[in-house]
Amino acid sequence: MTEWDKSTWRNKPRVQMPDYTDPAALAAVEAQLAKYPPLVFAGEAMRLREELGRASRGEAFLLQGGDCAESFADFSADGIRDTFKVMLQMAMVLTFGAKVPVIKVGRMAGQFAKPRSAPTETLEGVELPSYRGDIINELDFTSDARIPDPRKMLQAYTQSAATLNLLRAFSTGGLADVHQVHKWTLDFTASGEAEKYRAMAERIQDSLDFMQSAGVTADRMHTLQTVDFYTSHESLLLEYEEALTRLDATTGKTVAGSGHMLWIGDRTRQPDGAHVEFLRGVINPIGLKCGPTTTAEDLKVLLEKLNPENEAGRLTLIARFGAGNVAEHLPRLIKTVQEEGANVVWSCDPMHGNTIKSASGYKTRPFDSVLKEVQEFFAVHKAEGSVPGGVHFEMTGSDVTECTGGVRAVTDEDLSDRYHTACDPRLNASQSLELAFLVAEELSSRRNGDALAAKAS
Ligand code: PEP
Ligand code: CO
Repeated sequence: MTEWDKSTWRNKPRVQMPDYTDPAALAAVEAQLAKYPPLVFAGEAMRLREELGRASRGEAFLLQGGDCAESFADFSADGIRDTFKVMLQMAMVLTFGAKVPVIKVGRMAGQFAKPRSAPTETLEGVELPSYRGDIINELDFTSDARIPDPRKMLQAYTQSAATLNLLRAFSTGGLADVHQVHKWTLDFTASGEAEKYRAMAERIQDSLDFMQSAGVTADRMHTLQTVDFYTSHESLLLEYEEALTRLDATTGKTVAGSGHMLWIGDRTRQPDGAHVEFLRGVINPIGLKCGPTTTAEDLKVLLEKLNPENEAGRLTLIARFGAGNVAEHLPRLIKTVQEEGANVVWSCDPMHGNTIKSASGYKTRPFDSVLKEVQEFFAVHKAEGSVPGGVHFEMTGSDVTECTGGVRAVTDEDLSDRYHTACDPRLNASQSLELAFLVAEELSSRRNGDALAAKAS
């Protein structure tokens, strides 16, 4: 493989990145960020890699979730807390279904840059450059707001640092106590509509009660009070990523310091492009979105480039085909992975293939389609004998109305009530938890199927 350093991506074709108009301002920001402390450390990234290695073998399960795009305007401690809480609730339900540890990775503390399907947007006859996330330009529909400003990278860094600081505090400061987390879930299943999940919630409660009476209490068992919570984002704005890249003194390895796990989007995964070039050289665990246009040939090259040593946990393939399309596309990619003997985590993003425009004109995602894609993902893995290793959701702990459906049915007409996302529609707290129950059922029937097969053989 050719020489790599943190700047070699600059010699490759780039897509979905802004053309900054003031090179001096850009260089000043890059120099500043290069002096700042990294947000994460190599040891943490390596630990996440090891945990993901277990997920690739079915010995752990990945839960990745958070905003489509974090926003400067919506930044608040309550928002971070609520999303963190729902992720922990989901993780507990999934742990119960899978009977393996759940790896919690937020789309948080750095998820600011957005790829767009069109370079411009037209509103009432006015055409302007597209909004590309708060780290690049502004959502307001004015020509000034849409000019990319490199100084926004400094604000994104500061917000990421503050977010990560709070997440780290929540992880060890009492908010993550299992009893506390489960109490919130019981409140959810107590409501009439969510009653169908009550049986599972009660079985979790029984397990907690049993542990308590057996003396396994949070004050004795540190692990019941604390969690490992990791951060992730799409590695899109490479000037920002490069500026936060560090050489780790202990290992001599290069780590992207902007987040624990970074992924490559469906629009930036060109095997010879800048994004693949940057990520192939850092030691972080990497995600790769795989969509309907991902070919077996491209995947082969990408497996080799992104994980030449074939290390389990390095690479997570995030399938996002849309409900009704999984059986058409996923099998050929699974076959490629099997033929290559590649170690990967298979994760399911049931969001990005299921975006539609509602009758009222909102971008939305029907809960039923999200659920259907998850079920198809599990069914294909069962048929192919591969391991479904995780899920990837756009979600929030807030009570938004952005996706339709779910037990507390959000209707088309409701979308305008609390539609707050800066980009794609997110599952709200109740929809997220409901989905976790449904994934837990898939995981538990998979486990029972395995147990039956083992008995029969
Ligand atoms: C995303 O995850 O927000 C995203 C843009 O996904 P994709 O690259 O899969 O379209
Ligand atoms: Co999105």
